Amino acid sequence: MLTNKKIVLGITGGIAAYKAAELTRALIKEGAKVKVIMTENAMEFITPLTMQTLSQNQVYTDIFMNADEYDMAHISLADFADAFVIAPATANIIGKIASGIGDDLLSTTIMAQDKPTLICPAMNDKMLSNPIVQENINKLKKFGYAIMSSAEGELACKTTGKGRLPDIADIIEEIKIILAPKDFDGVNVLITAGPTEEPLDPVRFITNLSSGKMGYALAAAAHRRGAKVTLISGPASLSVPPVEKVVKVRTAKEMHKAVMESYKKADVIIKAAAVADYRPKISAEEKIKKDGKKLSLELERNPDIIAEIGKNKGNRVLVGFAMETQNLLANARQKLTKKNMDLIVANNLREEGAGFRTDTNVITIIDRTGQSESLGKMTKIEAADAILDHIKKITGRKRNRK
Ligand code: CTP
Repeated sequence: MLTNKKIVLGITGGIAAYKAAELTRALIKEGAKVKVIMTENAMEFITPLTMQTLSQNQVYTDIFMNADEYDMAHISLADFADAFVIAPATANIIGKIASGIGDDLLSTTIMAQDKPTLICPAMNDKMLSNPIVQENINKLKKFGYAIMSSAEGELACKTTGKGRLPDIADIIEEIKIILAPKDFDGVNVLITAGPTEEPLDPVRFITNLSSGKMGYALAAAAHRRGAKVTLISGPASLSVPPVEKVVKVRTAKEMHKAVMESYKKADVIIKAAAVADYRPKISAEEKIKKDGKKLSLELERNPDIIAEIGKNKGNRVLVGFAMETQNLLANARQKLTKKNMDLIVANNLREEGAGFRTDTNVITIIDRTGQSESLGKMTKIEAADAILDHIKKITGRKRNRK
């Protein structure tokens, strides 16, 4: 996602400056090209040599450093960048940007550019809650800067509170958000993800192998592209993407209730959850004790959530999933028609790189006209964007028909 994206990372003088090294490594690992600007105070905390080695680029520290090359750093860096990130950002740099002060390379460069800019404040909790700092942060938000919330926890000054640099993974996700095209801006997207659990008794349940990875990747991608995402998730041990609303459920009945409560507001509904088709007829209050050689379980049908929406979907785009072990296309097409979906995403459990719990998928996207597109093995994040690209074509067609 960040392959060949050009990031200019500004580092200012706070104790969290050492974490900029880790951030740079993570950016390089994601395929980004990184150039670093350090303020004078930043160099008290971490050396330019460290940053040069990790970024594999010259580090910029002084506005006059390249005077003999006739290359004005603040202008060339602004031209180079797809996005700017300041991490950590001190109260000082935030105040300077908010007041239009350019008295060093970083503040001057930020003033001389109009690229997406992410600011990651990190400072003592009292400094952060200072009304002047807060006013500066709000001013920058109004001018379109993306500002991350600082994390809570132990601070270097031995107090506990809000002011820590956010986790590196969260900063990377936020960089992806500021760089993503906003082609789903204002679109309400409802996504279900993960397995369901159908209890037999307080300690046992019926479930399936779904990890939630495909649904969570879709939620993250839709959010990045500007959608207002509601994620309804069965039990999954994944970190939740920073979407509008998350509803955690356990059983198919709970998922059914949550979906019915929210789907009317949605423009797009993506049912990536692996919903259990059956539940035990009786869920025992107490643990079932062994008794005799055999135990028969009576199962009853769960509501078919997507089929129910399909009957009353109006202008909404309805997307389902089909995981098959044989006759992939025929089975998926049949499901699409039967449940009145607009798109179905089919995959074959037997195919290498597809299926549950993997980070990759091999999908075929089929639409109502019967057309299908088979995509090769890709990460679930790439697959999510490919699915959204197809949905975009349909929402475009529906808008044109209105
Ligand atoms: N689905 C649903 N509610 C259910 C079961 C499935 O909404 N009770 C949705 C899934 O989220 C997915 C699609 O339906 O989008 C899968 O279709 P389905 O025919 O139910 O797949 P399977 O359960 O795998 O069906 P079968 O066992 O018949 O292959």
